[in-house]
Parts: sequence; structure tokens; C-alpha cells
Amino acid sequence: MKSLLDSLDSVLLMGPGPSTISPKVYEVMGKTTLGHMDPQFFSVMDGLKDSLRKVMQTHNEATITISGTGTAGMEACLVNLIEPGDSMLVIANGYFGARMQEMASRLGAVVSTLEFPWGSPVDVEAVKKELNSKSYRIVGMVHAETSTGVRNPIEQIGPLVRSMGAFFLVDAVTSLGGIEIKPDEWGIDAMYSCSQKCLGCPSGLSPVTFSSRAMEKIVNRKTKVPNFYLDMTLLMKYWNGSPRVYHHTAPANMYYALYRALELIQEEGVQAVYQRHLDAHRYLVEGLEKMGLSMLVEAPHRLPMLNTVKIPEGVEDAAVRKELRSSYKIEIGAGLGSLAGKIWRIGLMGHTARRENVDIFLKALARILRR
Ligand SMILES: Cc1ncc(COP(=O)(O)O)c(C=O)c1O
Repeated sequence: MKSLLDSLDSVLLMGPGPSTISPKVYEVMGKTTLGHMDPQFFSVMDGLKDSLRKVMQTHNEATITISGTGTAGMEACLVNLIEPGDSMLVIANGYFGARMQEMASRLGAVVSTLEFPWGSPVDVEAVKKELNSKSYRIVGMVHAETSTGVRNPIEQIGPLVRSMGAFFLVDAVTSLGGIEIKPDEWGIDAMYSCSQKCLGCPSGLSPVTFSSRAMEKIVNRKTKVPNFYLDMTLLMKYWNGSPRVYHHTAPANMYYALYRALELIQEEGVQAVYQRHLDAHRYLVEGLEKMGLSMLVEAPHRLPMLNTVKIPEGVEDAAVRKELRSSYKIEIGAGLGSLAGKIWRIGLMGHTARRENVDIFLKALARILRR
């Protein structure tokens, strides 16, 4: 039987995620599926926990992966930490900060938002002022804002939040595996990411890590975590229990993919992987500027893995993206919210972050723009 799946294009994924997958990751996805309570599968889970701790640069015992995408990780961090009535400050400068605010309000937190313009980083002094003016139980923010390409200074904000006794929750969906992040040193209590960006897997998993003080808050909640699937107290009985207790049918083949992707990062070296992202980013910016294009974000605050470039006057956003996809089999991202039609989002994440991919993209874009 002929299937649609036999004729899928092989697309160079240079959008905001998913990123292109290494053949070495695809290879393990076809390995034999083990049961979720199989002793050998438990060894895979143990290996995953170890590798996640290394790549996430944490010693937190509660470091696992949620079966679900980055949004499930966001929900897991919020639903476990928030108890109804908790005051929460969301620091936002883009689309994903706004999503965090929406989710926290649904969970019964009393949410205040400190907003900064899209395209600029969060201002540490303004955060300090806000934290001095009011007491918060939880403070949440995004490290790498995928909607704008801005890197936020969480390494400066974490210690401020800790000094106030609040819990610091960080979205590392785009940053993990692409730029430095140190939850233990920077005072992060809960952090979530995803499999499909700088880690280089298909989407479907969301690594999370909780500090011991966050786990203490969760274990001592007055009310049960309102979501069974994402309840860390139950998940830890499956990931760490002795004996392990069934919680859900873990997606074995996706775990293999993440396992291999984390092995690849460790083989290359975490710092070397960051450097590769930075090198590809610099090479891309140089090429774009040579073509007369300009970046949205000021150089010191740019993310290497998510590059936002202004669409030149008179150029039709959708037509260019459509041609890139149909004639060159390259995907890039559109602008979100107020930046729709004004910028393109060019991802250099995981296996995509290589000069040869930048060359392919720049050549294609130059041909389209010339016309
Ligand atoms: C910063 C950030 N947070 C959260 C998400 C949501 O992740 P997902 O689409 O994997 O559910 C994304 C997705 O791109 C993101 O970039």
C-alpha cells in the first residue's frame, strides 16, 4: 500500500522548533519497545535521570522528564508549586511569559505581571523594585523568549528572588542545550524544557527539575496537586520509587530518543555544544547583515538559537516563507503577536546549529529576495 508517509519532504527545520533530528537519534527510535515496568526500561530511566542532571547542570534529585511537550512541563511546574491563593509574580516580555500568566491564574494563583517591551530584555532594577514593594510566594519567567529572540538575565534575578524567600520558576524550553543555564547556582526552584529544540529530539517530552525546597513545598501542600498526570509526588514514585509504582505508560521509544540525544550532547561536550550554537549564530548574523538585513534584538541580548530578523520594507512575509518551504525545503518561523509580519524567526537549534545549514539558508533567501 502506498502511504502519504512515504513521500514526506525532508525539511531543514530552521524555525522556532522542532529542529532537525540527527540520524543517530532516529536510529534508536526504531528499537524494540519495552514495557514501562520492565527492569531494563528502568535502567534506561536511570540513565536518563543521570544525563538530564548533567545537561541541566543540577544535582536536584527530582529531575525527570514529563511525557508531554514543553507546555506540559510548564503546567507541571505551575500545578505542583501553586496552591490556591499563592501570590505569584510573572515577569513577561513576550508570548510565552503571557502563557505562564494565563496558566497560573487558571490554577488559582493571585497573579501580578511585570511587563517589559517585546524585543528588550527584562530590566533587573525594575524587578528588584517590584520584589521590594510586595511579597510574592512564586516568581516565574522565561529564560529564552522564543517569540522575540531575547535572552533574559535570570542569573541576576534568581538570587534576588531567593533573598526574598520566594520560589523561582524558569522556562528553559528554548535555552536548554543551547546556552548556559545553572539552576543550582542561579537559585532556580523549578525549571522545564522540551525535547524538540536544542536537545535535538522530536517533540513529546519535557525535562523538568525541582530543587529540594520546591519538593518540600510540594510534599507539604495543604491540598493534593490538582492534576493527577503531572503530580510530582506520584511521578517520583515511578521514577525513583523502591519498588517503582506505575503512574502512566511511559513512551519508551521517545525515552530512547532523548537518551541518545543526551548522549550525543555529552559526547560533544556541553560547552562545545553551546559554542557550536554561538558560532552558527554569529555566522548567520554576519550573512544577514551582508545582505542588508537587520536584527530585531540588540547584540548583547540575542539568543544564538533563535534569531529574529526584521523583514525588509516591501517584502511579503508569507510569500517568502512559502517559497523557502516549497522550493528549498526550508522552514523558518513567522513573527508572533505584535511582531507578526514584521520579523522572521530563524532557529539554529540542536543538530540544525551548523554553518553548512546557515549557508544553505542564506543562499536560498538571497535568491528569493533578489527577485
Ligand atoms: C519559551 C517557550 N515556552 C513554552 C513553549 C511551549 O512548548 P511546546 O510547544 O513544546 O508545548 C514554547 C514553544 O515553542 C516556548 O518556546
